[in-house]
Amino acid sequence: TNSNLTPVMKINQDAADFYHRVLVTTRAGERGMAYAKKRELDKKTIDHFGIGYAPQQENLLLLYLRGKNYQDDDLVKSGLFIQSKSGELYDRFRDRLMFPLSDESGRVIAFSGRRLSNDKTEAKYMNSPETEIFTKSKLLFHFAEAKKAAREEKHLVLYEGYMDVIAAYKAGVKSGIASMGTSLTDEQVYMMRRNNRNIIINYDGDDPGVHAAERAVQMFKQAGGFNIGVVVLPEGLDPDEYVKKYGKDKYHSEVKGALSATDFLLKRLAKKFNLNNDLDRINYLNDAVKEISNISDPVQQDLYLRKIADENKVSFEALKANLLHEVKRNR
Ligand code: CTP
Ligand code: MN
Ligand code: MN
Ligand code: MN
Ligand code: MN
Repeated sequence: TNSNLTPVMKINQDAADFYHRVLVTTRAGERGMAYAKKRELDKKTIDHFGIGYAPQQENLLLLYLRGKNYQDDDLVKSGLFIQSKSGELYDRFRDRLMFPLSDESGRVIAFSGRRLSNDKTEAKYMNSPETEIFTKSKLLFHFAEAKKAAREEKHLVLYEGYMDVIAAYKAGVKSGIASMGTSLTDEQVYMMRRNNRNIIINYDGDDPGVHAAERAVQMFKQAGGFNIGVVVLPEGLDPDEYVKKYGKDKYHSEVKGALSATDFLLKRLAKKFNLNNDLDRINYLNDAVKEISNISDPVQQDLYLRKIADENKVSFEALKANLLHEVKRNR
């Protein structure tokens, strides 16, 4: 069944097996295992995500793959090695917990390695470079598995990080995926849309996470055809930290209580104004009506207009007049 795979695909698959076995079965993997324990990764989770460990000692992967008769030029193309000026190869990843990154059909195409230490002079995550099989802008971590889970859960949940997808999975939310950090791309948005149009954004609860969620909402709206929910976790926590602190059940209620995109955007907007000041409140209402005027469904328009009318003790009719004026101006 491996015969239609290219050498670069096979190398990545063999490397995933190697890293995983090092972590789970060897002395050299004990450092990685200690870190995995600290992150509350149990055996079942480690197996499901194929997590591994790149050993400290240099070139163990190189030796292993040469032993399987791979050619050096294919090893270079795999992205797993660094080539010196004189042409020698070195293992790219050392002393890192390894997350295999897979394509839509679940084949390993690259890796991301997390440093074990807190040493901020080293990058927290190191990734494979782009190769003939790995394009960063098209990667969605855990997508092959999440697609299946989405059929039952009826949505995909978008996270910032691998550890968030994994924590959510352990908590029973199995439809989690992650782009590589907060910079979502249009390609990723279209990959999601082909699969499931209900999307819940659950980025980190810190300021960069909330800003990135605003940007993601705009991208999904721009692409069109999505029902968008947004979860904003308290205290700046990321989903992994939240589950650790508050447990599965509370996390489930957070996901169930996701805000609609419009509620989220209106809430963010309100934060920019001092609503105790009349002038500020009027400016807020004008901006809020502009936001609502972008909604094409008249029922939804009505619902949000009524909501902000009630919240701000102005009449629905006045806001509606304002909205109609806005729509006319933009025609
Ligand atoms: N990321 C990266 N390189 C970095 C930092 C982050 O590629 N130096 C990406 C990773 O995909 C990471 C995501 O951005 O999972 C989110 O970053 P962050 O919130 O800082 O990391 P966490 O996912 O919370 O990782 P951890 O819990 O291990 O600290
Ligand atoms: Mn973050
Ligand atoms: Mn801010
Ligand atoms: Mn985080
Ligand atoms: Mn984290």
